[in-house]
Amino acid sequence: MATATVKRIGVVGGGQMGSGIAQVAAMHGVDVCLFDVDPQALSKASSSISNSINRLVSKSHLSQVAGADALKRLRFTSDLEEFRDADFVIEAIVESEDVKKTLFVQLDKIVKSSAILASNTSSISITHLASSTCRPSQVIGMHFMNPPPLMKLIEIVRGADTSDETFAATKALSERLGKTVITSQDYSGFIVNRILMPMINEAFFTLYTGVATKEDIDTGMKLGTNHPMGPLELADFIGLDVCLSIMKVLHAGLGDNKYAPCPLLVQYVDAGRLGRKRGIGVYDYL
Ligand code: CAA
Ligand code: NAD
Repeated sequence: MATATVKRIGVVGGGQMGSGIAQVAAMHGVDVCLFDVDPQALSKASSSISNSINRLVSKSHLSQVAGADALKRLRFTSDLEEFRDADFVIEAIVESEDVKKTLFVQLDKIVKSSAILASNTSSISITHLASSTCRPSQVIGMHFMNPPPLMKLIEIVRGADTSDETFAATKALSERLGKTVITSQDYSGFIVNRILMPMINEAFFTLYTGVATKEDIDTGMKLGTNHPMGPLELADFIGLDVCLSIMKVLHAGLGDNKYAPCPLLVQYVDAGRLGRKRGIGVYDYL
């Protein structure tokens, strides 16, 4: 499929990533339909996209007309059947292989046979997701970074059967959305999270073993290495549930104990301290 033929995108999952991805696509002239199983998530996605666009307009990063046009290109739905006409679908639901596979089976039945099915997974095997469909050559990883409207990177992940045509169309679409592309083979965590998540996990071990306070760990990495956020602050921003799921995939897939999730990270997730989205994580936002 040539990128010029990508006129309609379906985004599945209206959380922080799905809403941001839908916004980026709409801001670049693509019609977008956003689906979520949770109606509350859909209304939250709608207001967070409006807020983000207003912020860009107020800072003169986007004209008022372009902002209004982007909002007109967005549709929100609770009916996956509305993806029938999509040329390209981007999945951004919970980081669970089983839940994603169930969705890919559904999408494969609904979405037209020429369409590409992309996953925004942070770590899960694209080859595994592709194997649940009848179109493995048209399944690919398209990994946006958080927050999608600001971050310049898309990491494209080729599954074992991803075709050259699917790769070329995904790369062209990513560039049309104003992003720089890197390409990874299909191994747990790909490039970015293979390197980033062990650092975040190590920050949790540093806190867990009493080496330093959370504030000093974050200040150390911000001022000591010029990172925009400290690792614990970044974990709260990403979502501690997402960080834990990624560590579990790295641990299972790469088979080395150095990837074992820190018990403190596990305990925070068990306690529902999922980070900024819940108002509490390593830090308290309430
Ligand atoms: N929409 C629109 N504009 C936004 C915005 C949003 N969602 N969030 C922030 N902005 C704008 C602000 O209005 C501000 O604009 P001006 O510069 O014109 O004033 C600018 O962006 C900076 O925002 P802030 O001053 O509020 O905050 P900041 O300077 O701390 O920047 C940040 C925010 C870009 C998120 C920065 O803190 C940062 O880069 N953090 C690290 C992010 C990161 O590492 N992301 C990758 C995570 S890993 C991942 O995504 C992969 C995975 O699978 C887990
Ligand atoms: P989130 O928890 O903010 O949102 C997930 C959304 O998916 C929720 O609104 C939920 O209602 C919805 N959902 C769950 N199951 C669904 C289903 N079967 N069908 C439709 N909707 C469903 O999560 P997020 O942080 O946006 O992460 C989404 C995906 O993006 C994950 O795979 C994650 O690993 C990946 N990712 C996350 C980040 C990050 O920083 N948070 C960065 C890059 C990639």
